[in-house]
Amino acid sequence: MMDIYTIGADVLRGNAAPVDSFDDEFAALIERMFVTMKQGKGVGLAAPQVGIPRRFFVMQIDGDKQRVFVNPEIVETSMELDSFEEGCLSIPGVYADLDRPAEIRVQAWNERGRRFTLGADGFLARVIQHELDHLNGVLFVDRLPERTRDRLLKQYEKRMRA
Ligand code: NI
Repeated sequence: MMDIYTIGADVLRGNAAPVDSFDDEFAALIERMFVTMKQGKGVGLAAPQVGIPRRFFVMQIDGDKQRVFVNPEIVETSMELDSFEEGCLSIPGVYADLDRPAEIRVQAWNERGRRFTLGADGFLARVIQHELDHLNGVLFVDRLPERTRDRLLKQYEKRMRA
């Protein structure tokens, strides 16, 4: 299992660089990330979370296939918002409801370097948006009202010190 970096680590706060080669090494890395994601009982894992400042993430939600998004871009978002509870392997034990666009359209490359476009809603759209934020140095708590964020992070730090 790869180490998962937690909030406070610089690698989680940078703007990740595009992936430019889809070689065997990249394929092996993706496999290791799926293993790490599952061992952590997560549904998504972005490269910066394992210390790699590159623009890709892996995900798998219940009843769906394994999905890989390389150099993803959200090209459309709905005006309608959905509220969903989010958590993150990089902020263990912190969960909060968060509004995001209910539907999105995303363009990306898969692990073999094939380009695709995907329309997504529900939990799938939610996870894609959460993971894509990681590539831009954004954590879900950043999107919460300041008071909620401060309260949750104080509780988190207290637990970490205990
Ligand atoms: Ni996360």
